[in-house]
Amino acid sequence: MSHEALQNLLHEDRAFAPTAEFAAAANATPDYYDRAASDRLGFWAEQAAALQWATPPTQTLDWSNAPFAKWFADGKINVAVNCVDRHVAAGHGDQVAFHFEGEPGDTRTVTYADLLREVSKAANALTELGIQAGDRVAIYLPMIPEAAVAMLACARIGAPHSVVFGGFSSEALRSRIVDASAKLVITADGGYRKGSAFALKPAVDEAVVNTPTIEHVLVVRRTGQDVEWTDKDVWWHDIVERQSEVHEAQAFDAEHPLFILYTSGTTGNPKGILHTTGGYLTQVAYTHRAVFDLKPDTDVYWCTADIGWVTGHSYIVYGPLANRATQVMYEGTPDTPHRGRWWELIEKYGVTILYTAPTAIRTFMKWGDAVPADFNLTSLRLLGSVGEPINPEAWMWYRKVIGGDSCPIVDTWWQTETGAIMISPLPGVTHTKPGSAMGPLPGIGAAVVDDQAVPVRNGGGGYLVLTEPWPAMLRGIWGDNDRYVDTYWSRWPQYYFAGDGAKLDDDGAIWLLGRVDDVMNVSGHRISTTEVESALVSHPAVAEAAVVGAADPTTGQGIVAFVILRGDAAEDPNIVKALRDHVAHEIGAIAKPRQILVVAELPKTRSGKIMRRLLRDIAENRSLGDVTTLADPTVMNLIGAGLQSATTED
Ligand code: PRX
Repeated sequence: MSHEALQNLLHEDRAFAPTAEFAAAANATPDYYDRAASDRLGFWAEQAAALQWATPPTQTLDWSNAPFAKWFADGKINVAVNCVDRHVAAGHGDQVAFHFEGEPGDTRTVTYADLLREVSKAANALTELGIQAGDRVAIYLPMIPEAAVAMLACARIGAPHSVVFGGFSSEALRSRIVDASAKLVITADGGYRKGSAFALKPAVDEAVVNTPTIEHVLVVRRTGQDVEWTDKDVWWHDIVERQSEVHEAQAFDAEHPLFILYTSGTTGNPKGILHTTGGYLTQVAYTHRAVFDLKPDTDVYWCTADIGWVTGHSYIVYGPLANRATQVMYEGTPDTPHRGRWWELIEKYGVTILYTAPTAIRTFMKWGDAVPADFNLTSLRLLGSVGEPINPEAWMWYRKVIGGDSCPIVDTWWQTETGAIMISPLPGVTHTKPGSAMGPLPGIGAAVVDDQAVPVRNGGGGYLVLTEPWPAMLRGIWGDNDRYVDTYWSRWPQYYFAGDGAKLDDDGAIWLLGRVDDVMNVSGHRISTTEVESALVSHPAVAEAAVVGAADPTTGQGIVAFVILRGDAAEDPNIVKALRDHVAHEIGAIAKPRQILVVAELPKTRSGKIMRRLLRDIAENRSLGDVTTLADPTVMNLIGAGLQSATTED
C-alpha cells in the first residue's frame, strides 16, 4: 500500500453503528464475544452442535501435535448430508438452492430435492468409475451447477477434491494433478465468458498426457462444441443420468480430508492447502450464519466468486448449503452483454445479500453510477467484501450506490489457509468503518505484532498473526509438512503468521495493509512473484527476470516484470507479446504481466540479491529510495531509461 493511501487511512474517522432494526433481528448477538472469550472451546463445540453428526464429538481441540491440529476428532459426519439431505428430510426439498444464470441467458432452477438427486447420482457414478474414499479428484469446470454437484459428490464419498480454477492453464492443471496424484478429472467441453464459448477440454487432454494417475476424464456437456475423444473420456450425461437416485451416505471421521486447494506462496510451486471435514464445516457454517446474517426462509444470497477459489468453496458450496441458503450462481462476466448485468440479476432474483471483491467494486465505480441506477436494488440488506483491502472510497461507494446508504458492509479478512472468515464486523452487533475489517470474530484470536512478536499498541502497525488454533484451519500442505511448519509457524512458533501487514487504529480496529511477502494480489487473486519469474525464465529468450506487484487503481496490484534477454532476442519486435503469452501458457491468463520491461541489468545488492524495492519504485513511478547498497548504482539509470521507452500492454 502506498504511503499516501496509508495517510488517508489514518484520517478515516467515519463509523457506522448497526441500526436498531438490524440489531433486533440479527443472528449474531453481543454476548457471542463474551461467551467465546470465557470458554472458547465450548463456544466452538456449540457451533459444531448446529451440524448433523452421525457420531457427535465429545472432543474439541487436540493441539498436542502442534501445529497440526485436530478438531472434534472423535466425531463422524458426512458433509453432503449436512448440505443437502437434512434440508430435504426437514421438508425443504422444494426450496431453491441455486438460481443458475448462464452467461448467454439460459437459466436453471435447482431445488434442494434436485440437488439431492443430482449429488446422489453423481456419487454413484464416481463409485462406478472406481473412486473410493481417500482418492483425489481434480475438478476443472466453469461456474455451472455441476461444479457444486461434483464437489458435493466427492465429499459424499470421502474423496478429497482439488478444484483448479478454469482460468488456469493446462500446465497449471497438470502440475496440480501430479502433486495430488489425482485419479479422475471432472471437466466440461467449455463454458461461456465475455460473450463467447471458451474451451476447457483441450487443456485437460494436453494435461493428462503426462499424468499417469488419471484413469478417467468425466466431461460435462455445457457448450456443445466439438471435443476430441479418448479412451479415458466419459460423458457426464452418459454415466450420471443412468445412476440410481439413491445413495447411502457413509459418515467420515471429522479429520478425514475434504479438499486440497492450491494457492501461491513465496516459491515457484503452489502449495496444496489441505482442509478436513468437521472443523471446516463447523466454521464455514457458523461464519456464514453470523457474518452474513443468513435467514434461510427469506434471503437470496449471491457470492460472485468462482468455485475455483476458496471463497467459492466456503461461501458458495459448503457454508451456504449447510445453512440452507437460496443462492444465485452466475457463469459469466459482469459486462456481458451489458455493464448492468449484475444489477439486473439482483433485481430479477431479489438478491438480499451480496458478497464480492473490491476489484469488482472499483471497476463498477469506474463505469459510473448511472449503470446501477437503472435497476431496483432495494432488495439488498447486507453487503460483503473479500480478497484484498478495500479502500474507504470504494467502501463508501458500495454503501451509497449499491447499498442505498443503509446496508451494513462486512469486510471479511481470511485466506485459503484459514478456510473461513477470521476477521470481520458482525452485522447488527459491531460498528463498521470504511476500509477496516474491524476485529477477530468470536472464537478467533488475532493480533498485530512487531518483529519480536510483541503486540503493537493502538495506532501502531506490524504483522498480522493468529494467536489460537481455529476449527477450519489448514491441516498442512499436501505432501510437504515441513513447508507447512516453515511457512506459517517458524517466524514465531507460538503464532500463525498470515503474511499480511496490518495496523491498529486508536480504537483497536484492524486495517489490513496487504502482503509483506513476495505474494502479489491481483484482482483478489494470489500470485507469487517467483511463480511468474519461473514462468518467464522457462522461455528460451529470457536470461533473468524479476517481478514485482505495483499498485493499480482497479486491480489492487498489477504484475510488472523486468527481464534480461539472451543473445539477440531483443531484436524481435514481438518478444514482449511472446513472453506475456508464455506466462499465460505456463500459469494462466490471470498471471500475464501488465507490463514487461526489457532491461540490460537488474539492481542487485553486493551479495547478488535483487532489490525489489527499487523495482517497485520504478514500477510505481516513484523517485528512487536509498540506492547505497546497490552493487552498481548506475544500473538504476539504465533501467529508468528503459522505462521511458516502454509502453504499457493491454
Ligand atoms: O492478503 C490478504 C488478502 O488475500 C490474502 C488471501 O488470499 P487467498 O488465500 O487467495 O484468499 C482470498 C479470499 C479469502 C490475504 O492474505 N485478503 C483477503 N481478504 C482480505 C484481504 N486483505 C484485506 N482485506 C480483506 N478483507
